[in-house]
Amino acid sequence: MDKENAMQPILSNREFELFRNLIYKTCGINLAPSKKELVKSRLSKRLTHTGINSFEEYYRFVTKIDKSGQEMIHLLDSISTNKTDFFREKKHFEFLNTKLLPELITKKEKDRNKKLRIWCAASSSGEEPYTLAMTVLNHVNPENGWDIKILATDISTKILQKAISGVYKKETVRDVPLRLLASHFARVSVNNSTYYKARDHLKQLITYRRFNLMTPEFPFKNPFDFIFCRNVMIYFDPETQQRLVSKFYDCLPKGGYLFIGHSETLSRRVSKFNYIQPALYQK
Ligand SMILES: C[S@@+](CC[C@H](N)C(=O)[O-])C[C@H]1O[C@@H](n2cnc3c(N)ncnc32)[C@H](O)[C@@H]1O
Repeated sequence: MDKENAMQPILSNREFELFRNLIYKTCGINLAPSKKELVKSRLSKRLTHTGINSFEEYYRFVTKIDKSGQEMIHLLDSISTNKTDFFREKKHFEFLNTKLLPELITKKEKDRNKKLRIWCAASSSGEEPYTLAMTVLNHVNPENGWDIKILATDISTKILQKAISGVYKKETVRDVPLRLLASHFARVSVNNSTYYKARDHLKQLITYRRFNLMTPEFPFKNPFDFIFCRNVMIYFDPETQQRLVSKFYDCLPKGGYLFIGHSETLSRRVSKFNYIQPALYQK
């Protein structure tokens, strides 16, 4: 046993089940039994932070004592997996560039409705909504009357803070074409390290909000032109995925698109969406 493990309190199977159920009920993440060590190591940090000595006591603190709900937010922050990238799963951006955006823009110009409404659900640290913003700006210009709004939501407050700051390491922006990097990011040097900061014109297109995809009734009054919800449904069980997908359906107009992760699929038997290409569906 290494030194760090020797100092961590023991997480019994019963305690692991309690946290597993709590996490599932709160955010839909369905942790396999094999994730016990991961949960133990991530939650141990919260025990240290709160000065609590056992997982049982920490569970009681989160569920009964902390009425503010803040510790639940920290627990979810520590459990969520936030892996993401700029221009992740490029085929989706090719589809936006070659088909969806040209067609949508032509239609909207004809209808004199120069509004684009996009929802990036599970936006993590911002790479995905900033990629969407750069892609949209390839086609339309707010100075020509286009009103573009990208709603970017995630359950993790910590990761949303990173997204809002819009500052990325040089390695993180490696997949952003140089032309786009130069137009939409400012290069900044801090302690001999290079960072790229999203410029205001890009940030202004995006509104970041904490939003739990398990929310029973979605509060959106107006439909989105398309929704990105990629690489989060893999953590949900099939029933949870189905419920979520049918809520997305209700948030789209006829012809609206739903983008999901390439390792995810919608059951054709139960979903009302039409299949377009891998990881892309249309209402
Ligand atoms: C692996 S990242 C995917 C990020 C991005 N969509 C992509 O494909 O690159 C999954 C994100 O889903 C968020 N998440 C997990 N459960 C959620 C829930 N119930 N509601 C909203 N966001 C959730 C996590 O915080 C995390 O940032």
